[in-house]
Amino acid sequence: MSAAIIDGKEFAARVRAKVATHVGRLKADHGLTPGLAVVLLGDDPASQVYVRSKGKQTLEAGMNSFEYKLANDTSEAHLLDLIDRLNRDPEVHGILVQLPLPAHLDSDLVINAIDPAKDVDGFHISNVGLLGTGQKSMVPCTPLGCLMMLRDYHGDLSGMHAVVVGRSNIVGKPMAQLLLGDSCTVTIAHSRTRDLPAMCRSADILVAAVGRAEMIPGDWVKPGATVIDVGINRVERDGRNKLVGDVHFESAAAVAGAITPVPGGVGPMTIACLLANTVTAACRANGLPEPDGLTV
Ligand code: GUN
Repeated sequence: MSAAIIDGKEFAARVRAKVATHVGRLKADHGLTPGLAVVLLGDDPASQVYVRSKGKQTLEAGMNSFEYKLANDTSEAHLLDLIDRLNRDPEVHGILVQLPLPAHLDSDLVINAIDPAKDVDGFHISNVGLLGTGQKSMVPCTPLGCLMMLRDYHGDLSGMHAVVVGRSNIVGKPMAQLLLGDSCTVTIAHSRTRDLPAMCRSADILVAAVGRAEMIPGDWVKPGATVIDVGINRVERDGRNKLVGDVHFESAAAVAGAITPVPGGVGPMTIACLLANTVTAACRANGLPEPDGLTV
């Protein structure tokens, strides 16, 4: 292996420490405790693990955590009523509705019911538009975490060719917008891209966000490139469950200049950035200066 490992676990701990310091100052100087409300419908085990982790880390950062666990068959009217109450609650600065939602609910409608100023996921159509036009917005947590790590590793990204594999609203599209904002030349590739291996090989920065275990092998990676692996895929190996990324780690690490591992790369940054977004939202809601280095 020749690639430098970009340690997301360590980086996320630094972000969380910065968040906690700022929360301490907000409490001491302004009597303000940022609060994050997380809404979970149903009993999907993976979502339950995420939500528990979010609640724990929110409290550890000194913030208020409000959790709403609703039944899988919760009606749209009931969920919209809860969101309306959270929108009007001055103790709540961030609202996150865990996705995916049960099939009977319209995710777009639900997300767009959240006050954009409290939309710490950055999924509301207003925030999508603000990000796309280079204006101040709430930035989706996973791409924000990826950008923070890339800036930390490279400094200036301008002029680099970034290939984002995956076109989801949660990762691929906002990631591309952020990289464009940092003056990369950006290509969004996907399952229909012609000669995907050659496209990946042209990337100085390769972001893999497709959700397919080890789909990208080392010979798709340009020597010296930086590889950001957003995938978290559960596979069975030798009778055991294992987490792997969208990139085949061993072969990619042999040619890349730097790579994020799975686990311990992008994953821990997502919740750290959620906490960062909650502090940013609390500051904006109260007309206070935003902490340095917690948003773009
Ligand atoms: N489900 C998986 N990732 C996410 C995320 O970043 N935000 C929300 N709301 N749900 C998710």
